[in-house]
Amino acid sequence: MQYVQSTCTVQSTYIREFQDKVKHNVVLFLDSIVSKLVMSTITVKSVALVNSVDAGIPTINDFTIVESTIDPETVEVPIGGLLVTILVVSADPYLRGLIRSNSAFKPNGIISGFVAGKVLKVNQADKWVEGDLFGGNLPFTTHQILFAGSVASIWKLSEFIDESDISAGIGILGMPGATAFGGLCDVLRPEPGETIFVSAAAGAVGGLVASIAKTVYGLRVIGSCGGEDKVKLLQSSGHFDEVIDYKKHVTAEELTSALKAAAPKGIDMYFENVGGIHFEAALSVLNDHGRVAVCGQISEYNEAKPKPFSLNALPLIYKSHRIEGFISSSWLSGRIGQGKWIKDLDRWYKEGKISKHETVTEGIENWPSAFISLFEGTNIGKVVVRV
Ligand SMILES: NC(=O)c1ccc[n+]([C@@H]2O[C@H](COP(=O)([O-])OP(=O)(O)OC[C@H]3O[C@@H](n4cnc5c(N)ncnc54)[C@H](OP(=O)(O)O)[C@@H]3O)[C@@H](O)[C@H]2O)c1
Repeated sequence: MQYVQSTCTVQSTYIREFQDKVKHNVVLFLDSIVSKLVMSTITVKSVALVNSVDAGIPTINDFTIVESTIDPETVEVPIGGLLVTILVVSADPYLRGLIRSNSAFKPNGIISGFVAGKVLKVNQADKWVEGDLFGGNLPFTTHQILFAGSVASIWKLSEFIDESDISAGIGILGMPGATAFGGLCDVLRPEPGETIFVSAAAGAVGGLVASIAKTVYGLRVIGSCGGEDKVKLLQSSGHFDEVIDYKKHVTAEELTSALKAAAPKGIDMYFENVGGIHFEAALSVLNDHGRVAVCGQISEYNEAKPKPFSLNALPLIYKSHRIEGFISSSWLSGRIGQGKWIKDLDRWYKEGKISKHETVTEGIENWPSAFISLFEGTNIGKVVVRV
């Protein structure tokens, strides 16, 4: 009896242990499924427009963040395509024009612009491997599939920078770099001993133009920016001979006087970022054979309609002035210069002739406030949004 009892006890112990083991394995199995499901599904965030804005500075309520999910393990990448993750998103003034009611971005649509990121998956896309870094003009969406057409439009950054320096892909080695290089080196074409005036000189493009003008070409550089803090910063950078606080000179006459005082022998080149009274003042002190690279007109971007501007064309003739507009895409596409811009900028960056100045915002959901900062002038250098 004793034996039978003890056999039963042993048997029931075995059964309990067996049941426990089964339970344990089932729990482990379910855990692994759940964690796999949770781990492999990623929340994708995109910046979308809520309201078109025809006049005034946009507000954060004019934008929203939309969410979806993606499973990078199972998502199908088309032949010639890539799965990519965006690491940094740019905020650029030109986007202001694209959120007007008669323009490209419509309410509920995803905004696109310049980004830099990393390749996660490749399906027979020549030249690309997993882990490559790239820059491009894409939707502001944290993870996305690129079809072959979009793959052809992005450029490789891995040969220049590593991931820790990815923001250079939307700055020095991105659209602002191409703009500064194109406008200064190819449109203005500086000569030794010349003087250049640069507006919005504490910003992404203006700051780069000024530093290349000083460190590469050895020019006399005059900058303008808004506010004493920015003036002090530029004065201490070593890239400027004179800095004008345009907020202290609110009419064209006042700004012209300030410019004459900063450049008693006149200016030979003007890198135009602002428009309005800056343009007028610069033209009035432009020397014979002077050049103007018309890059931007930010003082006009929030107006319902551009203000009429009367240009006295006679100096174009008797002073041999050249006023030329240009667009960065000519350099980004390689149509002008076949990509020389990025090689030169990379070399100057590595030689320390130019450096990154950034105002960084964390989180793609904060892109709207980063964008608005451009029109409030609270940014210094490139506006970068880290995803
Ligand atoms: N042609 C092209 O392909 C191309 C490409 C890129 C950029 N752009 C143009 O280049 C210019 C600079 O762009 P960015 O990306 O380098 O921007 P950014 O200079 O980094 O930022 C914009 C700056 O503009 C100034 N600003 C804003 N509103 C102003 C106003 N009403 N009057 C005077 N200054 C004002 C502010 O500086 P302060 O605090 O000093 O006022 C602000 O920090 C813009 O006009 C842009 O559209 C053109």
